[in-house]
Amino acid sequence: MPETSHIHDVLILGSGAAGLSLALRLRDDLSVAVVSKRELSEGSTVYAQGGISAVLDAGDSIESHVQDTLKAGAGLCDRNAVRFVVERGPDNIRWLLDQGVEFTRDAEYTSAGGYHLTREGGHTHRRIVHAADATGRAVATTLESQVRARANIALFEQHIAVDLITSRHLRDTRAHRCLGAYILNRGSDQVETFRARFVVLATGGANKVYLYTSNPDVSTGDGIAMAWRAGCRVANMEFMQFHPTCLYHPQARSFLITEALRGEGARLLLPDGERFMPRFDARAELAPRDIVARAIDHEMKRLGTDCVYLDISHRPAEFIIEHFPTVHGRCLELGIDITRSPIPVVPAAHYTCGGIMVDRHARTDLAGLYASGETAYTGLHGANRMASNSLLECLVYSESVAADIERLMDAYTQPPEAPGWDESRVTEPDEEVVVTHNWEELRRFMWDYVGIVRTNKRLRRAKRRADLLAHEVIEYYSNFRVGNDLLELRNLLEVADLIIQSALRRRESRGLHYTLDHLAKDASQRSPTILIPDGYQPRQRE
Ligand code: FAD
Ligand code: SIN
Repeated sequence: MPETSHIHDVLILGSGAAGLSLALRLRDDLSVAVVSKRELSEGSTVYAQGGISAVLDAGDSIESHVQDTLKAGAGLCDRNAVRFVVERGPDNIRWLLDQGVEFTRDAEYTSAGGYHLTREGGHTHRRIVHAADATGRAVATTLESQVRARANIALFEQHIAVDLITSRHLRDTRAHRCLGAYILNRGSDQVETFRARFVVLATGGANKVYLYTSNPDVSTGDGIAMAWRAGCRVANMEFMQFHPTCLYHPQARSFLITEALRGEGARLLLPDGERFMPRFDARAELAPRDIVARAIDHEMKRLGTDCVYLDISHRPAEFIIEHFPTVHGRCLELGIDITRSPIPVVPAAHYTCGGIMVDRHARTDLAGLYASGETAYTGLHGANRMASNSLLECLVYSESVAADIERLMDAYTQPPEAPGWDESRVTEPDEEVVVTHNWEELRRFMWDYVGIVRTNKRLRRAKRRADLLAHEVIEYYSNFRVGNDLLELRNLLEVADLIIQSALRRRESRGLHYTLDHLAKDASQRSPTILIPDGYQPRQRE
């Protein structure tokens, strides 16, 4: 079959808040490709519940949002990045409103332009704008309909990026530039070549590396793994965030119970009805996530229980149904009426605080390559992301990418022809069980050994297993035709290794990284964990 190749000005890998907002911010005389490995809307964005943080209320301030973010980040946020994002919050919410997103209104909130603001952990003010408890759906569907209406944006659904194409593929050792990507068309099973002047990774997080997660299946860290293989640095991968409250139910393993419930007064209870969070932190249920998740984990292990309970039934039923229709409806389908009874909850892997290192413009180490959204490490989150700061980060950095592409447009010509994908030495896969078995094993040992509470011994045990699986999977990858599951497993193994390596380096407990071998914070380790790939070349100034 002849090889298919595509050429665009901008190639965006990923169609969540980061990818779609960027596509819409780019000039409409540019030819843009948006590639998505499932249908366009599938990703973490559409499942976001709580909302988006921004200073909208006259009684709130940029300084307060900055300070709350820094405090939640446990001393590891980049102050400049925090201020950069927080200052751009209000404008980005206005941009979403201009696109047509309908946030929940409340006439009482006159000082916030009539938009209801909720609260979540770590925030000292009400500053979360939301669309009831389905904010992500409101954002995703609005952006999707706008993108579908734009003639300059070509959409490639059911296409999974395999690897980036760089100057190395042309054996050009002088340049160090990204030229495009090899992408598997899941419909035809062919790997196609996409070239572009600019490539943007907007591929989301890596939380599927854990057995229990709030994330959809697509969150397999593909962008982080691809950028690492292409020679980009990654940072802070030890800081994987566990959301304290995912529904504990055999039929709904990855359904989130939004933190906004706690913002509106829900309490965490033990099976005997005792409220336990005040024993752990003066902010009780509204302490930052790392603290709440660890407290739940501690109590579950102490009592040997399978879950704890989240109770909002003391609030009026009409209020609960109006503000939390998604959570109320889903729980009701499973026989739990949250207006009357507590919800069984457990922590689950939720957010990747680390990622591909980028600067203020979201530039990576490779010329022509950007990263935006959960796949990137911008310095905003430090050792623990504050609730609802993530969608904001996607919007702010995608705005930066668009502005930077505009600035650099003339300097980046179309890349030369790239070699096609070489399948001459591979055959059809013979034992798919290698993929399914290793996939399960990886996610289980990451949960058991690299989870909420770590030790050096557990991390070393995980490293040995990860090395073994990586060896097997790389051998399989080299010999057989690639498929979606194999590609995702290969990437998850790469990311697992980055998480374990980073966790082994940090010999203190800080934010989301908690180890029984080093229980205290150590001021001398107050810097990000930066991993440098083989053959790394610093990017030239542009
Ligand atoms: P995603 O939305 O995850 O999109 C990633 C995209 O990349 C997808 O389209 C995917 O198909 C595509 N992709 C991945 N790999 C490839 C590949 N190899 N080739 C092609 N395409 C690829 N944050 C908040 O700020 N507020 C909230 O209320 C909130 N609630 C949340 C609730 C849940 C249940 C979850 C899971 C997360 C929540 N978060 C929230 C976090 C936030 O939703 C995410 O961090 C954010 O949506 C990430 O957006 P993104 O565009 O970076 O990635
Ligand atoms: C939630 O609604 O609890 C999730 C918010 C977030 O992850 O920022």
